[in-house]
Amino acid sequence: MKCRKAHLEDLDIIFKIEQKLFNQPWTKKSIYNELNRSKNTLNLVAEIDEKIIGYFFSHFFEREAHILNLAIDFPYQHKGLGKIFLNKIINKYLKEANVFLEVKRTNFPAINLYLSFGFEEINIRKDYYSDGEDALEMVKKMNSYDLVSS
Ligand SMILES: CC(C)(COP(=O)(O)OP(=O)(O)OC[C@H]1O[C@@H](n2cnc3c(N)ncnc32)[C@H](O)[C@@H]1OP(=O)(O)O)[C@@H](O)C(=O)NCCC(=O)NCCS
Repeated sequence: MKCRKAHLEDLDIIFKIEQKLFNQPWTKKSIYNELNRSKNTLNLVAEIDEKIIGYFFSHFFEREAHILNLAIDFPYQHKGLGKIFLNKIINKYLKEANVFLEVKRTNFPAINLYLSFGFEEINIRKDYYSDGEDALEMVKKMNSYDLVSS
């Protein structure tokens, strides 16, 4: 699997996957806006044989990153690719960051994935999503040496 920066040209395929995977998908406009932001973003796609099979959107500021979206297209799920993708992202870009995210409290595949990377549950945000579901807030702290030295 290859992992590269996402571009505006990837908009249509990302939107297509987003609509397949989520009950309340991001709008095309919101994906466009994220792809078009030049500052403080880390937006990536995962490719197999030049075909986009997943994507990742995040914001970061200094040593704090916030994961906004992570997805692997249906036919490619449960094959270990989400794990490989997140592993590449964390090792290449987020090693020196405290990484935050919110995930639906019932999204066990995603929660299990994050737990396996050392994310910890820090808070529950009631009624966070427009369908009334709660969000689980999770964080992965940078290693303790960096915390002490910063
Ligand atoms: C969450 C997601 C990215 C995981 O990708 P994936 O490629 O299917 O995950 P992997 O095959 O790499 O599995 C990694 C780990 O995730 C967890 N996991 C994956 N599928 C799971 C399932 N159906 N039930 C429970 N845990 C699951 C497991 O901990 C698994 O590790 P293990 O196989 O060692 O037990 C993918 O399911 C997805 O895109 N879901 C829809 C979008 C979404 O909800 N994104 C999260 C938004 S915050």
